[in-house]
Amino acid sequence: MNTNYKRNLVTCALPYANGPIHIGHLAGVYVPADIYVRYLRMRGRETLFVCGSDEHGVPITIKARKEGCTPQDIVDKYHGIIKNSFADFGIKFDIYSRTSSKIHYKTASEFFKKLYDEGKFVERESEQYYDEEAKCFLADRYIVGTCSKCGAEGAYGDQCEKCGSTLSPDELIDPHSAISGAKPVKKMTKHWYLPLDEYEPWLKEWILEGHKEWKSNVYGQCKSWLDGGLQPRAVSRDLDWGVPVPVEGAEGKVLYVWFDAPIGYISNTIELLPDEWEKWWKSKETKLVHFIGKDNIVFHCIVFPSMLKAYGDGYILPDNVPANEFLNLEGEKISTSQNWAVWLHEYLEDFPGQQDVLRYALCANAPETKDNDFTWKEFQTRNNSELVAIFGNFVNRAVVLTHKYFNGEVPANAKPEQIDTETLSQIPDIRKAIEDNLENYKFREALKEAMNLARLGNKYLADTEPWKVGQSDLERTASILNVSLQICANLTIAFAPFLPFSVEKLNHILNVAVLDSALAWDELGKDGILPVGHKLNKAELLFAKIEDAQVEAQIAKLNATKVANEAAAAEKAAQEEPVIAPAKAECTFDEFQAMDIRTATVLEAERVPKTDKLLKLTIDTGLDTRTIVSGIAEYYTPEEMVGKQICILANLQPRKIRGIESKGMILMAQQEDGKMRIVSPEEKLINGACIG
Ligand code: 2FM
Ligand code: ZN
Repeated sequence: MNTNYKRNLVTCALPYANGPIHIGHLAGVYVPADIYVRYLRMRGRETLFVCGSDEHGVPITIKARKEGCTPQDIVDKYHGIIKNSFADFGIKFDIYSRTSSKIHYKTASEFFKKLYDEGKFVERESEQYYDEEAKCFLADRYIVGTCSKCGAEGAYGDQCEKCGSTLSPDELIDPHSAISGAKPVKKMTKHWYLPLDEYEPWLKEWILEGHKEWKSNVYGQCKSWLDGGLQPRAVSRDLDWGVPVPVEGAEGKVLYVWFDAPIGYISNTIELLPDEWEKWWKSKETKLVHFIGKDNIVFHCIVFPSMLKAYGDGYILPDNVPANEFLNLEGEKISTSQNWAVWLHEYLEDFPGQQDVLRYALCANAPETKDNDFTWKEFQTRNNSELVAIFGNFVNRAVVLTHKYFNGEVPANAKPEQIDTETLSQIPDIRKAIEDNLENYKFREALKEAMNLARLGNKYLADTEPWKVGQSDLERTASILNVSLQICANLTIAFAPFLPFSVEKLNHILNVAVLDSALAWDELGKDGILPVGHKLNKAELLFAKIEDAQVEAQIAKLNATKVANEAAAAEKAAQEEPVIAPAKAECTFDEFQAMDIRTATVLEAERVPKTDKLLKLTIDTGLDTRTIVSGIAEYYTPEEMVGKQICILANLQPRKIRGIESKGMILMAQQEDGKMRIVSPEEKLINGACIG
């Protein structure tokens, strides 16, 4: 490992521009990277922070097909949304560009062409899956089937999302086209392959011998790839969306997205610094660090380094790849297709101005060594019990008391006591711990140490009780507040990489703008950062309490998603299963009797807004008039339902669906064609007649 680095090049995985950004992205990649870069900059180290949208590949074209528009429409839409989300959350890239840029096409084409001209690729004809209905080859996610590694259905031709394995289409059981559903045939096609096997000895030396310090999850994954033996990897695809393969005889072929995307790091640097980019990519004095999620490890540790090695010309390799594991949400895997996620733009609608709370909660619980779970309850506790009760409370008390006793001016340390020096003497150790952890990509620990500094301040105030000393010993009160305000100044420095918005607020409260010296990292732990007589601005609350109702609303939103997903899955299953469902287990007469099944009549019916499947029905049960939300909108219009006599399970536990309380369930049965029909009495009965 080179310790003589002069500058830092930090990259973040280029997100696919096929959807917005969620908390999993933020926790795994972008928050830690942003903390790292802010820290490096505060230490005065020359740093470049590069990212952009990944706009090629099957994820984009699949989304375009789904939405009935062009891939260009998709990337234009989501590039903007993603870029704004990053800016909203203070992720401050030096450049956030896109792989559809001209400079990227040029850079990626030239990169390929040089390797091609130098004979670094192997050209191969092979049989690949082809969809005869859609008339196209089925690369990557265009082909789905059962995962041969874990047996999960719906695995893609490049990866199983269930077990995380990297797959090839040939490893899928019962493959079918994701476009038409057709069973594919095999057809000959030509592609270019990077012979990774040739780089294996070098990779083993470079990673397994040379980078034992990499995180164990990263090192372990590399080791398992390398121990398993590397195979040549195709770097082109039969697709019409991407960077065209720049050689003759390659019509209809584009660069594989995982070949062009990492080159995006380079092209985005060229776009930003056309005259200086080489100093960032081709100097041994540059420390290159890739922040990514665990599913990107092989591409950043094995494939991209092999590409750079093959290219030569002085390209540097990553010094570290601190990949994180995944973040789950309320115990389940985050899933874009199931809408099981907290989207950043939606978070900001519900928690305006509270970006730092999310940054804090995600960093405090970052999936650094294993998959972790985000829960709204923990989010609330992190805010209320840590940010509000410790950090915010401490700062507020120190500033309010300074205004009360000293007209908002930093008082002199007129009557010091041992507790003061003992307290302040702990700050350099905390600083060292933050630094050591950040230098080693341990962001959770680093944040914990920063919060320990706020804890130290809180404890100091609790021990010295300036509100009790007050006027009776103004000199001692002055000392206590001087020490407290010095801790506040230290807090703005220590938290600056983590909570940029709150630190800006705190800097305003402490009025640091008028100080001659900015509160640089080097001030952390030094004596008397705030000079005596320095005038503070008035106190403001740094953090607001998050109420139970706010988190309950978020949980209800997720529950509604779950109900909708379950309904959709049940419906899908019903359509796929034979009409005659297998017999159920025996039940007792008492169990049957426990079910209150009755007749009822629909009085009113309307669609539940923003849903395709749900109707809200007002029904007369003979006992009462009540509401049932039912997933029948696909089979009945509201008009058809009004006046219908139906059968209901009346004593089913009520539940909220899309915020509406639904009391009971309508009895339905599936027709031969899979359509669901209402079970109605043969002739009109009274409402409330018991069935049984
Ligand atoms: O996994 C992903 O979301 C990819 N778009 C990451 C690409 S990172 C880099 F290589 F560009
Ligand atoms: Zn699997």
